[in-house]
Amino acid sequence: MVRGRFISFEGGEGAGKTTQIRRLSDRLSPLVGEVILTREPGGSPGAEALRDLLVCGDIDRWSPMSETLILYAAREDHLERLIRPALARGAWVLTDRFADSTRAYQGAGGGISAGFITALEQAVLGDGRPELTLILDLPVDEGLARAAARGGGEERFERKGRAFHERLRQGFLEIARSEPRRCVVIDAAASSEQVAEQVWVAVSGRLLAEAA
Ligand code: TMP
Repeated sequence: MVRGRFISFEGGEGAGKTTQIRRLSDRLSPLVGEVILTREPGGSPGAEALRDLLVCGDIDRWSPMSETLILYAAREDHLERLIRPALARGAWVLTDRFADSTRAYQGAGGGISAGFITALEQAVLGDGRPELTLILDLPVDEGLARAAARGGGEERFERKGRAFHERLRQGFLEIARSEPRRCVVIDAAASSEQVAEQVWVAVSGRLLAEAA
């Protein structure tokens, strides 16, 4: 069966994922054929509807457990309707956040047990797991300041407080330490050009040589 490549971008607030994923897509497209750019929560019509419930409104609108369950409902829909069909026809799928965000935000940040999240991953993801994950790492204060300057009405998680964001930053770094073959930590405090170059070195070194 033809199978495409699956890459996720992860990181805390204001790390620049959205800019960097677009830059990577622009650079990859002429080389590899179909490139799909997507995001979580979201990426399919049903999951986009669930995104609005998650990212807007009061901080206490959902408990971390409710968030986890809504996120996994959205992820199942995203995988079934967009990601798996795209990989099956050989596309490269680049997603702005995926399952590591649940481990970091709801797990490390919100206190949901790693065992419960792993059980959901096993039930829902199956083989739908990224082969490369780029973790854009940035000091919390800098990320929150950048995110506040951006605005946009999707601030529910941004308002959860500095300690929450420090825990999730450490959560992402711990994921990178425990899965060094899949994860690359990128210094997101560098200039946009330098970050794009770090991303390109990781992608071309790990995946493009095999694709050629
Ligand atoms: P974004 O601002 O990067 O588009 O992400 C939307 C928000 O959703 C962000 O504050 C992080 C949060 N989120 C989680 O808490 N858990 C998850 O699993 C995902 C995918 C996102």
